[in-house]
Amino acid sequence: MALTVDDIVERCRTAIGEHPPALAVRDVVEEIVRAPGALAAAIGPISEGGIRPLHRSDDLTVLHIAWTPGMRLNPHNHGMFAVVGMYGGQEDNSYYRRADGGLATAGGRSLVAGDVLVLGEDAIHAVANPLREYAVALHVYGGDFFDTERSEWDEETFTERPRDIEGTMRRFADANARWAAESGSGADTTP
Ligand SMILES: [Fe+2]
Repeated sequence: MALTVDDIVERCRTAIGEHPPALAVRDVVEEIVRAPGALAAAIGPISEGGIRPLHRSDDLTVLHIAWTPGMRLNPHNHGMFAVVGMYGGQEDNSYYRRADGGLATAGGRSLVAGDVLVLGEDAIHAVANPLREYAVALHVYGGDFFDTERSEWDEETFTERPRDIEGTMRRFADANARWAAESGSGADTTP
């Protein structure tokens, strides 16, 4: 039987009840991204970058996120564990820790299709899509992603401020507009 979004959510729901939930969710996500074709078919075609909620409740949020080519997202935390399962493209993660007056850099990790990343509830990261293709992934969170107090940091000054989801949505819109212009005009080189 073909994989469906309902199956994905159901499997994450079961995992969230296990101990420790983050690792049970990781196992489920690892299994799902091992069959990228089935996941892509369940999600459907990607025509622009954005966040698509597949499930939202108090203890679990399941999102499909497509990072627009060239897009960057400034440092932020989640206040809950997060599991990212890539099934196409590349997502470059930069890690940070709190430091006097802002943040200090703390390494990073690039994810490609099949990779699964677990972030603890105190993690702070920034994300970039370095390629000229969408970076597509399941993002599973151990709480209500949209209704938890969180922080983000200015990418240049590292000044902390409350997380601004609308600001994040504007970044997607800007990146989508830029990519539409770029991929629509520059791609053809007629001799
Ligand atoms: Fe994040």
